Amino acid sequence: MARVAVVTGGTRGIGEAISVALRDAGMTVAANYAGNERKAAEFTERTGIKAYKWDVSDFDACLEGCRRIAEELGPIDVLVNNAGITRDATMKRMTREMWDEVIDVNLGGCFNMAKAVFEGMQERKFGRIVNIGSINGQAGQYGQVNYAAAKSGIHGFTKALAQEGARGGVTVNAIAPGYIDTEMVAAVPEDVLAKIVARIPVGRLGKAEEIARGVAFLCGEEAGFITGSTLSINGGQHMY
Ligand code: CAA
Repeated sequence: MARVAVVTGGTRGIGEAISVALRDAGMTVAANYAGNERKAAEFTERTGIKAYKWDVSDFDACLEGCRRIAEELGPIDVLVNNAGITRDATMKRMTREMWDEVIDVNLGGCFNMAKAVFEGMQERKFGRIVNIGSINGQAGQYGQVNYAAAKSGIHGFTKALAQEGARGGVTVNAIAPGYIDTEMVAAVPEDVLAKIVARIPVGRLGKAEEIARGVAFLCGEEAGFITGSTLSINGGQHMY
């Protein structure tokens, strides 16, 4: 039986590339999305991958969404927590709402989704969870106290849950992408982005497929000894 994978924010950007990579690795993939119906329909038409709509910051919606996927496709073996948003502003301009939104979606979403699938994975003695962190969670970024805090939180979340999953065959890892050629990065003001790209040793933005390749690697059957790790894919922009 093919493994069943859920990718949050899986119909666009990095998430779309991850959904496709896992499908190409032989998995049955369910792509979650929050709002953009048209993009999701186009995605399903293009890839043949089913899309499921709910907001990952809504705990009950995550439980219900995963229950539906398990019923339609089978028990969930692989979870990729990819859904993420930015609400960039300097501290002076950042509102409490901008803080809450980013923490609730980017970090709260990881908890909600893991809560929905982790026990089942442990019972079946197999699971792969990959959380998409960020270079900006590792290094910080001007104008992103909310996003950097959430992404940094994801890295801690990964290392803690990895310890709980290890004996039961459930691996939990993170990928820390650098600046990738997606709509999220395109929203950064042009002059600011040019300065950022100038500091990337490889000399360009990354491609979504270059992140997806790492995710597929960590989700493989052979990756059972890799857990609690963070794989940085950032063109050499930040090394530690
Ligand atoms: N370090 C130090 N100073 C900086 C700075 C930096 N990195 N960036 C800007 N400044 C300075 C500016 O030079 C400017 O100073 P002056 O007033 O003396 O000229 C001042 O801070 C204000 O800068 P802005 O005009 O840019 O301020 P703003 O309020 O219009 O915008 C901002 C602030 C929204 C944070 C904007 O700079 C911005 O969007 N920055 C990009 C943030 C970013 O990289 N986001 C990543 C999004 S993609 C992503 O998150 C994916 C991922 O995981 C990698």
